Amino acid sequence: MTRAVYPGSFDPVTNGHMDIIDRASKIFDELIIGVLLNQSKKPMFSVDERVNLLEHLTENYPNVTVKKFDGLLVDFAHKEDARVIVRGLRAVTDFEYELQMAQTNKVIADDLETVFLTTNLKYSYLSSSIVKEIASYDGDIRQFVDPQTEAEIRSKLNDNGGK
Ligand code: PNS
Repeated sequence: MTRAVYPGSFDPVTNGHMDIIDRASKIFDELIIGVLLNQSKKPMFSVDERVNLLEHLTENYPNVTVKKFDGLLVDFAHKEDARVIVRGLRAVTDFEYELQMAQTNKVIADDLETVFLTTNLKYSYLSSSIVKEIASYDGDIRQFVDPQTEAEIRSKLNDNGGK
């Protein structure tokens, strides 16, 4: 039985993330989505809101669970008894950062393996930041996120006067 973690900020979850979740859920017996509670970033969505959105989107995936985590990813993976870290690779621009992270994690936790899934070409440009930026200028984000996420982004922007 192989349990994997798919960590990220997911602020907010995009169709690109969902593509990775869908594919990783078919490769590993169990997939735990780890939502980072990052004190140094000011996210649009609280960690609990991000967890709720992901839980809603993965309710039809019996082998996927969603948990928040704080601190080191390798500690979270150990606590969850996972042996694999899944990351999506969009383009060569992601590679340097992802390689550094994977190699660092390997040095501090030799028992964990990072597995990269290359992002589906149709999402290779997509990021949470781009989605938030387009939405902040009232652009159409319906092809990037699911309807509930879109509604929640709109509601956040209305609460914050558009930004
Ligand atoms: O979606 P993101 O923001 O690209 O995800 C980055 C994430 C959460 C995977 C990374 O920031 C992380 O693992 N943070 C936890 C702290 C940690 O373990 N840092 C050392 C990694 S080398």
